Formats: sequence, structure tokens, C-alpha cells
Amino acid sequence: MSEKLWDGRFSEKTSRSVEHFTSSIDIDRRLYPYDIEGSIAHCKTLAKAGIITEDEALTLVQGLGVVKREIAHGDFLFDDALEDIHMHIETRLLQEVGKVAQKLHTARSRNDQVALDIRMFLRDKTRQTISHLITLCRTLVDMARVHIDVVLPGYTHLQHAQPVLFSHHLMAYYEMFKRDRERFRDALERIDVMPLGAAALAGTTYPIDRHYTARLLEFSSVSNNSMDAVSDRDFILEYLAHASICMVHFSRLSEEIILWSSSEFSFIEIPDAFATGSSIMPQKKNPDVPELVRGKTGGVFGDLLNVLTLMKSLPLAYNRDMQEDKLPLFRSVDTLCDCIEIYIRMLPNIHVNKERMLQAASVGFLNATDLADYLVGKGMTFREAHGCVGKAVGIAIQQGKELNELSLNELKNFSSLFDGDVFSYIAMDQMIGRRTSFGGTAKQNVMQQIAEADKEMMDAK
Ligand code: ARG
Repeated sequence: MSEKLWDGRFSEKTSRSVEHFTSSIDIDRRLYPYDIEGSIAHCKTLAKAGIITEDEALTLVQGLGVVKREIAHGDFLFDDALEDIHMHIETRLLQEVGKVAQKLHTARSRNDQVALDIRMFLRDKTRQTISHLITLCRTLVDMARVHIDVVLPGYTHLQHAQPVLFSHHLMAYYEMFKRDRERFRDALERIDVMPLGAAALAGTTYPIDRHYTARLLEFSSVSNNSMDAVSDRDFILEYLAHASICMVHFSRLSEEIILWSSSEFSFIEIPDAFATGSSIMPQKKNPDVPELVRGKTGGVFGDLLNVLTLMKSLPLAYNRDMQEDKLPLFRSVDTLCDCIEIYIRMLPNIHVNKERMLQAASVGFLNATDLADYLVGKGMTFREAHGCVGKAVGIAIQQGKELNELSLNELKNFSSLFDGDVFSYIAMDQMIGRRTSFGGTAKQNVMQQIAEADKEMMDAK
């Protein structure tokens, strides 16, 4: 017979291939600090309820400390036959402190234990994600401040639309990542729920104080329903859904950085430390970091879909399928944190070619709307003005000119309302400076947004 902790009813040894197939130790071993911390709190809960003595609790807690150090120092032997991190720790504890270790699993099941471990892990990681996002938001705000006056062609349909401040564009990403932070903060409330004591599914006959366990582990609430406690993985789905949206934002920013650093745009230069060369083309400097971030987005979407599909149609309560939740969760948590960190490092070092951006904003009729607005100011209806300027654009294209390169007399052919003040009206700084509607790109508005953002990120947690 093998020496499994659950094999009382078994008369046959588990097949090696089944041990290998069912084992999750390669994945869930990283939960060990949480498993041990949870077990320590459980010991104290058992002692408080008089289920084990204070001395027994002390022995168990000390033994768990020994196991924790062994794992941390790499002195621990992992074995497929022991399935998962919970079994490994309990088995090693038994060797370390003897028979009293057999009391540790009283009033507990691996079903509530694993739910506890993942929640503790994800609580830490969500806090880390939030703090990374705050740093990223601050980085974007700082960058917007540094480049406050830089003009960028604004695009719709990736066609020249209207000039905007580059700082305004950066602050758009600030808004996206701020929403991501808010989503993770909101999810934290539902991650931070203590499931231990639900036991296998029905609760326990032992008089444990679950709220005491929650206090020991600094949980803000305790799960209300034991069946939900062991079968709920919504909190993982929420993290993955929020991570997916955040990766959408990263993929968009990455795409722009990749485009902007191409020789066609030449708006920015990625710092050498964040680019790589080609093994064949000596001239190449490739935007690998944003490309990889863009590429990793698919993996995070896949992880969300993985866990959604895993949970779909599962009957209550615990099902072994749920063991498969960890790999996608861990992978996405690591990917997202890596992506945020690398962006925090890369962004402030990007060289902004403001002359090139301004030059690009000066061609392609980005002043057409303003020219129409000019006519509206002189009394024409907007629709009429739109048609009038449209004709002017047509002629300008034929002549290979910009609108501001047409003479006043040429402009007068389209409307007698055009006058000498038209050229200053469509000067770049005028066009941007007039967009003072709330949330618009006028410098004073962007500075206001930056000041607001400074305050928001000062208070953000
Ligand atoms: N390794 C399992 C998991 O990750 C732990 C829970 C096992 N429970 C059970 N009844 N076999 O889900």
C-alpha cells in the first residue's frame, strides 16, 4: 500500500500514470506560503474552539514553520504521488511533528483549503496589480507634463483628422488604465472573502469560529454559503476579465508605439535598451517590447476563456476540473504584471520627435473643420460651411497645396465670407487652443486634467 492521506478505503495502489495525470504540484507549489499561513490560522482556530490543545497548536505551528523554511530554501522533495501542495505540506508535517499532524485537517477539507489559498494569492497579486497600475498612471501623467506642448496629428480611421496635443493623447491612456485600476479595486472586495470552514461542501460539525480565522488572515468578510465557498471561482474570472480589458489597452498603446516608431511615422524612438536588432539586417532596430506585449494579449484572453469554459455547467459543489484553474490564472497574473512593469520602465525613456509630429500635423487638411468653423463664425450654417470647405479641399488636392496655402482670393472663390483673419484662425496653436470644451485638447484643459490626475493618483490605493 502507498501512504496517501486519503487511501483508507482503497485496496489497490494508485497507478503511476494516474498519479502523474492527477498531480498539480508543478503548478500549485507556488501557493505554499499561503497554504502554510492558512494552516497556521486554522490551528489557532482549532485551539480556540478547544478541538486541539494550545500545546498541540504550538507544535503544529512550529512544524509548519520548519516546512515553510525548507520549501523556501529549496530543501523540499516534491513528488507526484502526493498530488498537490496541500498533501505535500501535511505529509512533511507528519514526519516533522508526528501524530499530532493528523489533527490539522479536522474541520477542513482540501476544497475549502485550496479556495483559501487561491484567494490569498490573488488578493496579494491584485494589490500588486493595482499598485503597478498606479505607477503606470503616474508615469503617463509625468510624460504628458513633459510633453505638454507637443502637437500630434489626431486620427480617426487612421486618417488625419484634427490636431491634438500629444499630452492629451497620453492622458487618454491614463483614463483607460485608471479604469483598469478601479476594476481591480472593485474585484478585490469579492476576492477578499474567507472560505475556510466550509469544509468539503456542507460546513462542519466542529464549533469553529470562522470570523476568528478571517481576522487572523485579515479577510474583510467570510463566505456566507459553504457550497458557494468551495465552488466559486468568479473572483478568478473577474481578475482574468479585468486583465483582458487591461491587455486590450496595452495592445492599443503597443500598436501605436510600433507604428509611431516606424520610419513612415518617425514620431518616436524606442530607447535602445528596449529594442533589439535583427540577426540578418544590420540596420534594424525592432520594437520587440511593444510587439510582445501586443502578442501576449492573446494569451490572457485565452486564459479567461479557459477558466470560463472550465466553470461552465459545473454542478455544485467542488469538482476536480477546478484544479485546472491555476495555470491560466498564474500565467495571466504574471503576464499582466510583467507587461505593466516593462511599460513603466520603457515609457519615460521614449524619445519624442516633436518636430516630426508637428510636421505631420501640418499636412493632410487637419485644419478643414476649423476652416468650416471660421465660416460658421461669419454667419454660415455648419452644413453649408462643410460643403464649401469640401470644395476648397478638392481644389487644394488638385493643386498639391494645403488649405492654408491657398491665397485669400482663392478662398474667396468658395465664399465671400473669407477674410484676412482666416489664416491666423487656422494656425495650429489657435486650432488646439479653441478646443476648450470639457475634456477637449486645449492646453489649459489638458493641464487641468493633469492636475486632476495628480490628485487622483496621490489618493489612489
Ligand atoms: N488540488 C486540488 C485543486 O487544486 C485541491 C482540492 C482537491 N480536492 C479534492 N476533493 N480532490 O483543486
